[in-house]
Amino acid sequence: MIVCFAREIPLRIFVTGDMTWTGEFIDVRSIRLPFKSPSRISRVLRELSFDTEIDFYSGGTRLAEPHPRKILDTRIRFPNMKDSIILLNEEPLAEVFIPTRLLHRDGQLREILSYLRPALHGRDARNVLVVGGPGIGKTTLVRWLLHEYFDGKFAYVNCLNARSEHKILESILIQLGNAVPENKPTDSLIQTFSKKVNKRVVVCLDEVDQVKGDRVLQTLSAQECGLILISNRLYFLDSVEDRLRSRLFLTEVEFPRYRRSELIDIIQDRIDYALSPGAITKHLVEIVAIWANGDARIALQTLKSAAMNAESGKRDSISIEDLKNGIKGAKRSKFEYVRSKLNEHQAFLLRQIQADMKIESAELFRRYQESFDNPVGERAYRNQMNQLVQTGLVRGEGEGRWRKFEVV
Ligand SMILES: Nc1ncnc2c1ncn2[C@@H]1O[C@H](COP(=O)(O)OP(=O)(O)OP(=O)(O)O)[C@@H](O)[C@H]1O
Ligand SMILES: [Mg+2]
Repeated sequence: MIVCFAREIPLRIFVTGDMTWTGEFIDVRSIRLPFKSPSRISRVLRELSFDTEIDFYSGGTRLAEPHPRKILDTRIRFPNMKDSIILLNEEPLAEVFIPTRLLHRDGQLREILSYLRPALHGRDARNVLVVGGPGIGKTTLVRWLLHEYFDGKFAYVNCLNARSEHKILESILIQLGNAVPENKPTDSLIQTFSKKVNKRVVVCLDEVDQVKGDRVLQTLSAQECGLILISNRLYFLDSVEDRLRSRLFLTEVEFPRYRRSELIDIIQDRIDYALSPGAITKHLVEIVAIWANGDARIALQTLKSAAMNAESGKRDSISIEDLKNGIKGAKRSKFEYVRSKLNEHQAFLLRQIQADMKIESAELFRRYQESFDNPVGERAYRNQMNQLVQTGLVRGEGEGRWRKFEVV
């Protein structure tokens, strides 16, 4: 099954022939058309009023006439085009782009939906915790599901952007259609909650491990709404206080990393919308998938920056060197991104490991206890280290008192 996103498809325009590239065309590239409107497709194309031939294709087969469900790409041939280009449309490779199709996540989609569907009928939904490493479609899938099934009845907050409990509660209330006067104290927001956040709505907290304090989760656990929490910390629940954990009663849905073949499908799907035909070979696509090691974000960023590199070198296809440059940049930005999500404990521990390159666990624990006002126990330290290792920034070897850590 293929999941279709949004009711729009990007109009894919291939430019071939001989004509100089004009700025005017850039606008054309980003046009998006409603799925159900053949007349609009024809009108937009007429409005473009290029004195040129236009062919409509579906899966490589030329169509006799435009068909709203079948058009997958549109080829416009210009008579005098010389400069070949690679990146026809940057949008599908951007982080914020919502793909038209979400591949290889049917199982997770069905499972999460089965837990939340009762909310649609005013019955008790099951709360869900979505966990898994970075770049594997957690945010994308949940946002799509919310828009598709709970339109107007959900609130989504990314807690990396809104970390304080006040901001999070305020954002949820506003998204559920409540006016929240400025400077309203947090306590009074919590009171409004019990009146407004009912069984029929779903609240999603993305990057939930970034929330400071327990109060937001306490408040939500006391409501009847469905809850989706997303985190890339497999050990997130260990840091939640026992009683709160049992009140939240979360069902865990784990997202695995993509397999190489799945990543190839995801990359290829975006290539079809973003790059000119022949811009990258199958072999290089496989290399991107191998290097990305299960992370779709890394794969797409690598591809985008490789395409831009090739284009700025005025070449008409992507080379292995372009990919090498691309992967370096993508990995650097992943490192920064993952680091920005660390809490102050993990950031301290990472700095210590970076300073020593390799450090014994006992020594690290000693420094950790020395540096924080409230001395932490060994269990809490192990929990922080488990989370740090899970980010992929450091690795551990050996067990117990022989355990050592080093930067990856
Ligand atoms: N199955 C898929 N099909 C198409 N695109 C995908 C798929 N999975 C992920 N992507 C793309 O990969 C990128 C990263 O996905 P997403 O932001 O959902 O990851 P995530 O699991 O939430 O990562 P993080 O934990 O770092 O927030 C996005 O650009 C998204 O569009
Ligand atoms: Mg995410």
